[in-house]
Amino acid sequence: MEYVEFYNENKMPIVGLGTFRVENDEQAKETVQYAIENGYRSIDTAMIYENEEKVGEGIKAGLESTGLKRSDLFITSKLWLDDYGRKNVADAYQTSLDKLGLDYLDLYLVHWPGMDEEVMIDTWKGMEDLLKDNKVKNIGVSNFKPHHFETLLSHASVKPVIDQVEFHPYLTQEDLRKYLQAQHIQMESWSPLMNAQILENDTVKKIADEVGKSPAQVIIRWNIQHDVVVIPKSVTPSRIKENLDVFDFELSDSQMEQLDNLNEDKRVGPDPDNYSGHNK
Ligand SMILES: NC(=O)c1ccc[n+]([C@@H]2O[C@H](COP(=O)([O-])OP(=O)(O)OC[C@H]3O[C@@H](n4cnc5c(N)ncnc54)[C@H](OP(=O)(O)O)[C@@H]3O)[C@@H](O)[C@H]2O)c1
Repeated sequence: MEYVEFYNENKMPIVGLGTFRVENDEQAKETVQYAIENGYRSIDTAMIYENEEKVGEGIKAGLESTGLKRSDLFITSKLWLDDYGRKNVADAYQTSLDKLGLDYLDLYLVHWPGMDEEVMIDTWKGMEDLLKDNKVKNIGVSNFKPHHFETLLSHASVKPVIDQVEFHPYLTQEDLRKYLQAQHIQMESWSPLMNAQILENDTVKKIADEVGKSPAQVIIRWNIQHDVVVIPKSVTPSRIKENLDVFDFELSDSQMEQLDNLNEDKRVGPDPDNYSGHNK
């Protein structure tokens, strides 16, 4: 496994397992356990995915069967918009911990910027409280654009370590990527496979043939070579393995460029500028 290092010198695995649309059932538990047994060290969930209990059971089962320690894993969850506001953050965090059966998270994210700047700033103060109270290892954001950071950073005493955003070859987010690099904020991609849509693209398939890997592996590798943390979701054992088998090949500069050139600024998820959280 390769790791990225945040500006605060803490580390995070560059590939992890996504769990959006994974039901809170035995499959969730088995999926997470299987991933840990097969080399995953990072799991991404969120309060709004409503699967924290079974994800937590999978983490526990994975630790038991591998003999790994909790500190070998990197667990992320996210604060939902209904719990925004400084005074609500600690309770929401504790609820996630209780559901997961954990006593700390490695990373807690503000899920969306929301539509109200003052609420966003106040909420971040609650995130900073968690960090100051040593309840969480790292705090970050999700779905923030540069203008959201400009607002947040003018009021924050702790800078987010990471921004988790939609990122794939149809949405290459060049401006955001440059902004985050300049700010030393790590970028992380969600829906890296564009919910599997990008795997049908001819250029992706051609490059997969050239390197002797699958289209999904090519996309995950493209993220890694852009220094972007990537969390593909799968509940299929063979794909879970496949998605981590990405450290024995490299894309050439030309292959990276061909993938970059697929950009159409096309999203599969909401635009953060007009998302208030009323549809997941
Ligand atoms: N912060 C946010 O606002 C936000 C928003 C969305 C997602 N996320 C996070 O990002 C994670 C990933 O995004 P996502 O779940 O939306 O989509 P994704 O990872 O882009 O795509 C998942 C889809 O691709 C399929 N798949 C996975 N590996 C494959 C492979 N090797 N070959 C072929 N198909 C494959 C999966 O099928 P099977 O499962 O059936 O194998 C599933 O249908 C989420 O799970 C969540 O943790 C965060």
